[in-house]
Amino acid sequence: MHIAELDFSPLFENIHDEAMQPWLQRLPQQLQHALVEKHHGDWQRWQQAVAGLPDIQPSSIDLTSAAIRLGEAGDINEHTREQLKQQLMQLSPWRKGPYEFFGVDVDCEWRSDWKWDRIKNHIEPLTGRKVLDVGGGNAYHSWRMRGCGADWVINLDPSRLFFMQYQAVTRYTDNKQVYMLPLGIDDVPRKLHAFDSVFSMGVLYHRRSPIDHILHLKECLRPGGQLILETLVIEGDAQQVLLPENRYAQMNNVWFIPSTQMLDRWLARTGFKNIQLVDVSATTVQEQRATEWMQFQSLADFLDPVDKRYTIEGYPAPVRAVMTATNPE
Ligand SMILES: C[S@@+](CC[C@H](N)C(=O)[O-])C[C@H]1O[C@@H](n2cnc3c(N)ncnc32)[C@H](O)[C@@H]1O
Repeated sequence: MHIAELDFSPLFENIHDEAMQPWLQRLPQQLQHALVEKHHGDWQRWQQAVAGLPDIQPSSIDLTSAAIRLGEAGDINEHTREQLKQQLMQLSPWRKGPYEFFGVDVDCEWRSDWKWDRIKNHIEPLTGRKVLDVGGGNAYHSWRMRGCGADWVINLDPSRLFFMQYQAVTRYTDNKQVYMLPLGIDDVPRKLHAFDSVFSMGVLYHRRSPIDHILHLKECLRPGGQLILETLVIEGDAQQVLLPENRYAQMNNVWFIPSTQMLDRWLARTGFKNIQLVDVSATTVQEQRATEWMQFQSLADFLDPVDKRYTIEGYPAPVRAVMTATNPE
């Protein structure tokens, strides 16, 4: 199925699960709305950037190393590599990565592989699982999930730029298992109960109603399925949650930042079982930083210049927690 010159047929050809039918039936209309009816000023430019990528056959693909690696440096000459780099640069800013395209290192703002390394050994093994990654950016983690053996993965993210970055990656794969939909969580029908694993990483604090977000994630899971929830947290007891007065680390759409105990309570109150806190890590300026591929301001500019324990607004500097929880049978 093609929408706005984009081919969505692999998803429709490969996903036959009964539980997915309510969503599959609505998808053509949702995609039409997101990609055709909603205007975006840069859309044509990004489409041209992807269309202008050189035609190359990768000699190998690696979804298991820190950088998603497509092809090898020796597959192309310097001239083609420069052409490839110029086209990929037009899809900047690249926020989640790293990627390596035929020897071109796309050093993104985030070392997203560090987050994956903190998570991958604490979750139900992904082999054979059907996975939803809510707010997965350009699908970096979805590729890594497939690298860990997931049967298929849907990355759901409304950003059209990230969608075009995903298109650039798929240009060099014969991918039939990692799908990206340029849609938001609100497009997933309620009570779908279709996925074995649902990831929501870096999304909860952007939601005005975090409990409703957690409930919606629960409805995406089959009974017995696992939620992997990663979000900003503060220090404190089960009574503590930060609601910034305005911006937090310069982000203007941050709502609730709970303590890990409060987050545990949110998961328990929404009916999850087997709730585990698997990681708490401060975000460093080595993990999130400006690069050639993301030349805007980054974390170093969002922290207090004198005391890095605080954001520029005087809140505790970013700390992120990962929790896993099971949707009861
Ligand atoms: C902080 S990033 C996290 C990216 C990735 N999950 C990670 O952890 O590195 C948040 C992402 O959520 C996406 N997003 C925003 N609103 C969303 C919505 N309603 N549904 C799904 N994703 C959304 C944004 O486009 C952005 O890519």
